[in-house]
Amino acid sequence: MPTYEEDYARSLSDPEGFWGQAAEEISWSRKWDRVLNNDNAPFTRWFEGAELNTCYNCLDRHVENGRADQYALIYDSPVTGQVKKFTYAELTELVARFAGGLAKLGISKGDRVIIYMPMVPEAAIAMLACARLGAIHSVVFGGFAASELATRIDDAKPVAIIAGSCGLEPGRIVEYKPLLDKAIELATHKPKNCVILQREQAKAALVGGRDHDWQEVASSSDPVGCVNVAATDPLYVLYTSGTTGVPKGVVRDNGGHAVALKWSMKHVYDVDPGDVFWAASDVGWVVGHSYIVYAPLLHGATTILFEGKPVGTPDAGTFWRVIQDHNVSVLFTAPTAFRAIKQQDPRGELVGNYDLSHFKTLFLAGERADPDTIVWAQDTLKVPVLDHWWQTETGWPMGANCAGYGIKPVKLGSPTHAVAGYDIRIIDEADGATEMPAGEIGSIAVKLPLPPGALPTLWQNDEGFLKSYMSDIPGYYKTGDAGFIDEDGYLFIMARTDDIINVAGHRLSTGGMEEVLAGHPDVAECAVIGVSDKLKGQLPVGFVVLNAGVSRSDADICKELVQLVREKIGPVAAFKEAAVVKRLPKTRSGKILRGIMRKIADNEPYREPATIDDPAILGEITEALSTIGYPKS
Ligand code: COA
Ligand code: AMP
Repeated sequence: MPTYEEDYARSLSDPEGFWGQAAEEISWSRKWDRVLNNDNAPFTRWFEGAELNTCYNCLDRHVENGRADQYALIYDSPVTGQVKKFTYAELTELVARFAGGLAKLGISKGDRVIIYMPMVPEAAIAMLACARLGAIHSVVFGGFAASELATRIDDAKPVAIIAGSCGLEPGRIVEYKPLLDKAIELATHKPKNCVILQREQAKAALVGGRDHDWQEVASSSDPVGCVNVAATDPLYVLYTSGTTGVPKGVVRDNGGHAVALKWSMKHVYDVDPGDVFWAASDVGWVVGHSYIVYAPLLHGATTILFEGKPVGTPDAGTFWRVIQDHNVSVLFTAPTAFRAIKQQDPRGELVGNYDLSHFKTLFLAGERADPDTIVWAQDTLKVPVLDHWWQTETGWPMGANCAGYGIKPVKLGSPTHAVAGYDIRIIDEADGATEMPAGEIGSIAVKLPLPPGALPTLWQNDEGFLKSYMSDIPGYYKTGDAGFIDEDGYLFIMARTDDIINVAGHRLSTGGMEEVLAGHPDVAECAVIGVSDKLKGQLPVGFVVLNAGVSRSDADICKELVQLVREKIGPVAAFKEAAVVKRLPKTRSGKILRGIMRKIADNEPYREPATIDDPAILGEITEALSTIGYPKS
């Protein structure tokens, strides 16, 4: 096998040769005319002319090639006390039948289907069934509120929605169906059919003529085969936070995605077919799409679908139990999960209760992996702990310590090197063009073309794609992250360059929260910042200026604001703190100085900008923050 350096260099100098070779690992019903068509850059097309079916590559192919009796998916649910295992043959049959039921409802190639489900096997079955039919799924995370779901319904215009009746959060049942009904009521676009998985913890009332019981749909048809689609046809649309309240519909194609994800399983994660791989995330996030569902199955591995939390279901030893019970060799999760475990079991004593002899490597991503957490995980688990960096937009890692080539020495705080296909450069923010010298921070950008699997565009929004990612640094994809590359070529991701924050590994827009606060009738002006949090990495905190003449108590208004964000965005925003201030700090040109507010909250030194309108306001902000307990240290 070539070295990392050889492969990386070849992926950039000969992308067609490199990815054309990787594509041999995928089954195509028609081979490509061209590996890479970049004539209409930055709208890159990979494997043009080729046809395939992603579900076939995930399931049927393995049944045909001797993996019928190997487990494809293990559902482990400490919140319901259930463990269910599905072989490749069983999962193929379930997916093919459910796809048949969907086809009977009229769903076919190119149709959009929204999936709003908790972490149950049926979520993966629904995704794969859509892929089987060539329908385009769009999974919406269960922690989002009805209005967020409505926004996605109006953008994706699904013919159908597949939902669970409820999700199970520790200590409470979240009824999804009323949220779904509300979302459909709010949305302008109305889906023709809804398929509801009735969970026994909360059965939902079905709307006649629109709603169908999952079981009836699944048993209404014989299994159906796979529909071939173009490599460049969309497999799914996944909405992610942008800089406003309007989410961006990241499009994933079928061909490039299959090639890149299959390649990543061995080269990035060092997983072999037959190994057990566990991404402890949620199917509502990109990690869940790529590494709970598609990549492990494309690779013929066994994937774990875990319905629980790292702590409290029932305790901080849950992850070790799952690793032991199912012989997990590689775990991938967000650092916040480890911070939660460490908080409850600081000495890692629970690890001693389990046999982790099969466990090989821990991968962390989704937010900055702080050195404390990495060192604690290394000491506790005694396996390599590897940070890696990627985004919903790329679908698979851009920066990683690629274990398949042999693990490089770890530098704490760095996801190591650029992954094959990603020509990562640090660009001076000031001019959007000059490359920064080693060790100096700038905007992290990827020289085009992006490799297979990365977003070809935004859903029905080419213009938004150009504006969000491709315009600021011509010839490059702008990641929205800031960081540097050191003299040894190690990449460091330091912060976002926009208003996106990362709360417990969940990507959220403070701009979106500001839009909600601004909608409160008593609010004249507002700002939301992300402050540091020991457990979740960051937490949002709101500041509001009230309209003149409002006489209600500040505390009542803040309570309403918290409730409003929960209602409009969802509990996942974890928006729990707001303060009323007389005015917001601004530059003379009216720009709110959010960066300085964040530094005050985090007790970091800051320099008063020369352009500040009135420096006295910073004292007022410090005072307002102290009333809600900031800075914490
Ligand atoms: N459906 C409905 N509600 C949900 C939900 C879902 N699928 N997922 C989360 N929520 C709710 C939670 O119940 C919580 O509500 P609350 O405010 O009433 O308590 C809120 O959204 C925030 O949830 P969460 O971010 O999960 O925080 P938590 O305090 O419940 O748990 C951690 C904290 C660290 C244990 C948890 O965030 C975690 O396990 N993170 C792992 C990282 C991860 O999965 N990252 C994804 C990208 S890799
Ligand atoms: P998402 O699209 O939800 O996967 O979030 C992507 C964003 O999360 C990135 O743009 C980064 O800001 C952040 N992120 C993901 N992985 C890492 C990492 N390993 N280190 C630092 N930040 C990360």
